[in-house]
Amino acid sequence: MTEGVFGRESGHEQVVFCHDAATGLKAIIAIYSTALGPALGGTRFYPYASESDALDDVLALSKGMAYKNALAGLDLGGGKAVIIGDPATDKSEALLRAYGRFVQSLGGRYITACDVGTYVADMDQVARESRFVTGRSPEDGGAGDSSVLTAFGVFQGMRASADHLWGTPDLAGRRVGVSGVGKVGHILVEHLVEAGAQVVIADVSAPAIERVRATHPGVEVAEHPDTLLAAELDVFAPCALGGVLDDETVPRLRAKVVCGAANNQLAHPGIEKQLEERDILFAPDYLVNAGGVIQVSDELHGFDFARAKRKATALFDTTKAVFALAEAEGVPPVTAADRLAERRMSEVSRLRSILTV
Ligand SMILES: NC(=O)c1ccc[n+]([C@@H]2O[C@H](COP(=O)([O-])OP(=O)(O)OC[C@H]3O[C@@H](n4cnc5c(N)ncnc54)[C@H](O)[C@@H]3O)[C@@H](O)[C@H]2O)c1
Repeated sequence: MTEGVFGRESGHEQVVFCHDAATGLKAIIAIYSTALGPALGGTRFYPYASESDALDDVLALSKGMAYKNALAGLDLGGGKAVIIGDPATDKSEALLRAYGRFVQSLGGRYITACDVGTYVADMDQVARESRFVTGRSPEDGGAGDSSVLTAFGVFQGMRASADHLWGTPDLAGRRVGVSGVGKVGHILVEHLVEAGAQVVIADVSAPAIERVRATHPGVEVAEHPDTLLAAELDVFAPCALGGVLDDETVPRLRAKVVCGAANNQLAHPGIEKQLEERDILFAPDYLVNAGGVIQVSDELHGFDFARAKRKATALFDTTKAVFALAEAEGVPPVTAADRLAERRMSEVSRLRSILTV
């Protein structure tokens, strides 16, 4: 069972348990921080083995969102929600609307969005009961598919990594391996091909590979994701599952840079040091994949793609700032990214002590 929900180990502001027996809704909303504004983060619909597992997950995910939103320069804190159940069988209009009423009851302290197991159509249902919803369908004023700016942000992070390492953001001629060409990966490939990079892809799904090959026949295909991980590359871009960098895989990497969309790429604390010892520049995942949250959060101001894209472009400068801080303070980039996020949360929230009218 999770220790210290009320203690320093957790550090969360508020954790809300939501139950509606009639619809079968069992949800937990965790607000890690509202230091920078309302806590934004998606709702995960997942068949957790236990309520304790669900609590652990939502506590970790909401903290991650606070750091991601802070680094992305958003005026938003971090939160996340989980609905316990099988999205394929337990999801209903009534359950989603019951959940929406709990979101509404928090008065805007928490703003929700899509995550694993929830989709744009679900957010449209939640939005029938709450004003505090993003990730709705474009017809409903929503931002649509967040993969578009997620991929664009990863591309900016990769350009910043190249600039830091090779003195130019130009990726022309660089050999880049994209592992996982799903919603984000395949758009990243588009940016890379346009930039003149030599792209190699891998995926466990043959249709996903075919979709890329149909539009870009020049893209190489690795035999297997595992082959790609150890291939001669300039940049390795994990765009599938988390935990891809571990004690077994890091020694086999030959790329100079790791920069991709997958969440939680480091399997456990300490891997960032192993990457550093091997002179591999790691662009923190929660920094470079923030384009998606930038895209959906723009809905709060009336969605404007051009404005959201401008904000995602700034991930280039933020990534460079993280690498510069890492060098200045002699720490790995993930530690520098954490420090930058913590500084922003503390400096900006302090301003609230200045009374305004
Ligand atoms: N979609 C977003 O806006 C967004 C935002 C932030 C982070 N992310 C993260 O980026 C990653 C990709 O997201 P997505 O939306 O493109 O998901 P997706 O499900 O559309 O694509 C994932 C792809 O990876 C492939 N895959 C699965 N296992 C693999 C393996 N072992 N090796 C190689 N490929 C494998 C799948 O076949 C699929 O094509 C996830 O980790 C997600 O959490 C996505």
